[in-house]
Amino acid sequence: MKIFNKKTDLKDYLSNLKLMNKTIGFVPTMGALHQGHLSLINKAKQKNDIVVVSIFVNPTQFDNTEDLEKYPKTLENDTKLLESVSCDVLFYPSVKEIYAKNIISEKFNFDGLENQMEGKFRDGHFNGVGTIVKTLFEIVTPNKAYFGQKDFQQLQIIKKMVKKNQLSVKIKGCPIFREKDGLAMSSRNTRLSKEHRDAAPFIYKTLKKVYAKFGTESATKLTEWVEDQFKKHPLLDLEYFTIADEKTLKTIKSKESNKKYRAFIAVFAGDIRLIDNIHLKN
Ligand code: PAJ
Repeated sequence: MKIFNKKTDLKDYLSNLKLMNKTIGFVPTMGALHQGHLSLINKAKQKNDIVVVSIFVNPTQFDNTEDLEKYPKTLENDTKLLESVSCDVLFYPSVKEIYAKNIISEKFNFDGLENQMEGKFRDGHFNGVGTIVKTLFEIVTPNKAYFGQKDFQQLQIIKKMVKKNQLSVKIKGCPIFREKDGLAMSSRNTRLSKEHRDAAPFIYKTLKKVYAKFGTESATKLTEWVEDQFKKHPLLDLEYFTIADEKTLKTIKSKESNKKYRAFIAVFAGDIRLIDNIHLKN
C-alpha cells in the first residue's frame, strides 16, 4: 500500500493512473477503522481498479473539543487493516496540509437537509463535513465514493452537494455493519465503559421493534413509545428519535404510499454519543 501525506504527491500519483484509464474508488474516513469501514473498502475494491482511503480527523466537523481531542487514533492498526483488505493508497494528511492557516468551514446550503436531526444538535457539523469531503474530492477526483448508511443524513447531504456542484463523482451508500449483538459499529464504541457497552444493543433492539410496529401504529405514537422506553432505561439517555422521509429528512406524522421512511436515533451512553437508523417498510 502506498501512503501519502502531501496532496501534491497524491495528485501526481493518481494522475498517472488516470492516464492509464484506471478507475478510482474513494473511501473517506477519520480512522480508528473497524469492519464497518472495511465493508466500504471491500465494496470499492470490487467496483474500481484503485482504492484510495483517507484518514483525517477533521477538526471543523466537531462541535465539541473534548470529542475531537478524545477521538481514537490507531494509525498502526489502521494500516494493518487496510493492508489486510488490499487497499491501494492511504492518504493521511496533517491538519495544516488540508487547512493551511485557517481551520474554518465553508458555508453550505443543503436545501434544509442540514437543519434536521444531527444538524439540530451538532452546530456547524455539516458545514465541516461538506468542507472536508469537497476538499478531498478535489484532491482525489474519484470516479466513485463510498459512504455508510450509518450516517444516513451525511450520505444524503453529500449526494446533495455533488448534485448542486455538478461534481462528476458517483456516491454509493453502503449498509450499516453491526456487531453480533446488533450495535452499529462505530469508532466511538471503543470508548464505552463495560456497562454502557453491555447496554448499547438496546438501541438497535428498539429500532427493530419500531420496524415491526410501523404501519400498525402512527409515527407520533411510535415516537412517544420510544421516548418512554428510554425514560425507563437506567443507563441510556435519548437525545432524539424521529421517523422521517428519506429524501427530505423531515419528521413525518403520517405516511404516504409512494415515499421511503427511516427511523433515526441518537443516544448518550454516559458521555459517548451513539447514532443509528433503520429503514421502514412502507
Ligand atoms: P467515519 O466516522 O470514520 O466514517 C467513515 C465512513 O464509514 C462513513 O461513510 C461512515 O458512514 C462509514 N461507517 C462508519 N461506521 C459504519 C458502519 N457500522 N457500517 C457501515 N458504514 C460505516 O463519517 C466520517 O468518518 C466523516 O464524517 C467523513 C465522511 C470521513 C468526513 O470527515
